Amino acid sequence: MTGDPGERAAVLCALGAALPVRSESNAELCTVLDTSDAWIRTRTGIAHRRIADPATSTADLATHAAAQALTSWKARPVQALILATTTPDAQIPATAPAVAARLNLTGIAAFDLAAACTGFLYALAAAAGLIASRTADAVLVIGADRMSLLPAPGDRTTRPLFADGAGAVVLRRGSATEAGALGPVVLGSDGTHGDLLAVPHGGHLRMQGPPLFRHAVDRMCAASTHAVRLAGRRPEDVDRLVPHQANARITAAVGRRLGIGADRQVDTIEHTGNTSAASIPLALAQATVQGTLRAGHRTVLTAFGAGLTWGATTLRWPAIQPAGHHLFHTIQGSARDQ
Ligand code: UT7
Repeated sequence: MTGDPGERAAVLCALGAALPVRSESNAELCTVLDTSDAWIRTRTGIAHRRIADPATSTADLATHAAAQALTSWKARPVQALILATTTPDAQIPATAPAVAARLNLTGIAAFDLAAACTGFLYALAAAAGLIASRTADAVLVIGADRMSLLPAPGDRTTRPLFADGAGAVVLRRGSATEAGALGPVVLGSDGTHGDLLAVPHGGHLRMQGPPLFRHAVDRMCAASTHAVRLAGRRPEDVDRLVPHQANARITAAVGRRLGIGADRQVDTIEHTGNTSAASIPLALAQATVQGTLRAGHRTVLTAFGAGLTWGATTLRWPAIQPAGHHLFHTIQGSARDQ
């Protein structure tokens, strides 16, 4: 790879997203679970979630989101693809090479990265490292998950929360002073609490909600504070807080503790649920489309998930050109023609 060594910051320059067509309402869930629309809305903020049909794979969602991002990147080359997912289509091979092949990117570096709901932030850090080390000048970073596959069908504590989707960005080599340049990425883990959210081999997702809630707030607050400080800023300088969308009450609690008011928080969980590694890029796409996230906003991304894992980073939001007229692609069934 080429380039001035002083110009090896990772700059976010394109964005795309994909959601399954089917939207499942709380009312529908109430026909199969002992729950209520009021409980789900007040305890989580979720009203609908997108559920992929059985013919739609993680690779399908990832490919569509990535294609949207690549279109807005105007089909310039990328040299690596990182797919953050905990629901790969197979144990072997990784899903990323198949996604690369379907995007006509056969030959580039492609790998899956598993850090649960923090996967997208880990993938951003890995991509920034590939750029800094001259392995790549541009990297496609995708977060895609089919979380609806994991809960037991009758589990009212997890089924209302988890959903399907994908989001993607392109990071390119650039200058640390440009809009879109990632600040330092703060990452962490604590495997001593791995049992709080786990899917044993061959089993269903098991979650201890209340302790996870407390860890999520503590870890995202600490990571955000650290990332903002490393970027030479203070929480009061933040225009937009974009947390992993796990629960609207978690987003509000993180914002409250950091002194970042509701008008500066991005909360998109109402219509998408918790899409794990897809949640941050999906939230970025939704907020960009809605106009609540605009060019120049000093933005903090933060995530927390199983592992435990957590992370945060900062960037000044760039002017994103949507591919065609929209950032979102809705899909049904296989995308093998992509
Ligand atoms: O993605 C990253 C990792 N995940 C998270 O960060 C999730 C963090 N945790 C949470 O978001 C929340 O803990 C939940 C949304 C999972 C649960 O909310 P909560 O306010 O912590 O409720 P809870 O688990 O303390 O349950 C309160 C009550 C219980 O009944 P009792 O024991 O008080 O009689 C539950 O059995 O609510 C009951 N309950 C439900 N009731 C109706 C649990 N799920 C449901 C439900 N409908 N779906």
